[in-house]
Amino acid sequence: MNDAILKIDTITGGYVPNVDILHGISMEVKQGASVGILGLNGSGKSSLGKALVNMLPYRSGTLIYEGNDITHLSAEAISRAGIRMMFQGGQVFQSLSIWDNMRLVTANTFEEQMERLRPLIPILDDTKERLMGTMADRLSGGQRHQLALAMTLATLPKIVVLDEPSAGLSPKSVAGMYDLLQKVREEMSLTIILIEQNISRAVDFCDSCVLIQQGTIGKTFERGELKEIEATMFNVIGQ
Ligand SMILES: Nc1ncnc2c1ncn2[C@@H]1O[C@H](COP(=O)(O)OP(=O)(O)OP(=O)(O)O)[C@@H](O)[C@H]1O
Ligand SMILES: [Mg+2]
Repeated sequence: MNDAILKIDTITGGYVPNVDILHGISMEVKQGASVGILGLNGSGKSSLGKALVNMLPYRSGTLIYEGNDITHLSAEAISRAGIRMMFQGGQVFQSLSIWDNMRLVTANTFEEQMERLRPLIPILDDTKERLMGTMADRLSGGQRHQLALAMTLATLPKIVVLDEPSAGLSPKSVAGMYDLLQKVREEMSLTIILIEQNISRAVDFCDSCVLIQQGTIGKTFERGELKEIEATMFNVIGQ
């Protein structure tokens, strides 16, 4: 039985012609799974994430989502079809309030989505006045990531690509973010592709993790195989 929601088949490409960043990436993501994407800086993790939402042009390869070929769909069409990415750094509209950031991505489903996400995302659980009065540029890193996550989830994606949701956060905020992701995973039937530098978090959270090395897929690891990943990534002998 093959219950893959997403099939990535030999994707090769890069940002400019003749300079490939991804070299024949293939992987399958099962419906409802959480898959970690790990790798050193510059190995191509974010580029792979962007390829999945068609924000990195690829020269060859195919992307099959729910049995349909979406290789040539625009980024907007892919987003509408249900694959959304939370970009590295937790991108939000800095000069808008929390309220307006949420309004912008939800339009006429705003009330409904606020209602749904309020119990899950602490930063949304506030009065209308405070949400309208708090500009996104005043948020701490952890709060900004919460807002970016809320904006990503508010469009009811089936697959979310989360690019380093814990980057730059204090240990307490990292723990808070992972509690939040755990809750989100339990309450929505989401498929999660998690790009992470925090190997121990990723390996605890994900069903499996793949290692990206210079734009190619390396080994796949099962949940909890921290030592094995570290040994492979840092080329040390595992004990
Ligand atoms: N917009 C861009 N235009 C051209 N090259 C880019 C662009 N973004 C990334 N690259 C290049 O693609 C390669 C892979 O970068 P990518 O951002 O995918 O790595 P990463 O694994 O996400 O790294 P990090 O852990 O630092 O976030 C790097 O050599 C980088 O310089
Ligand atoms: Mg990156």
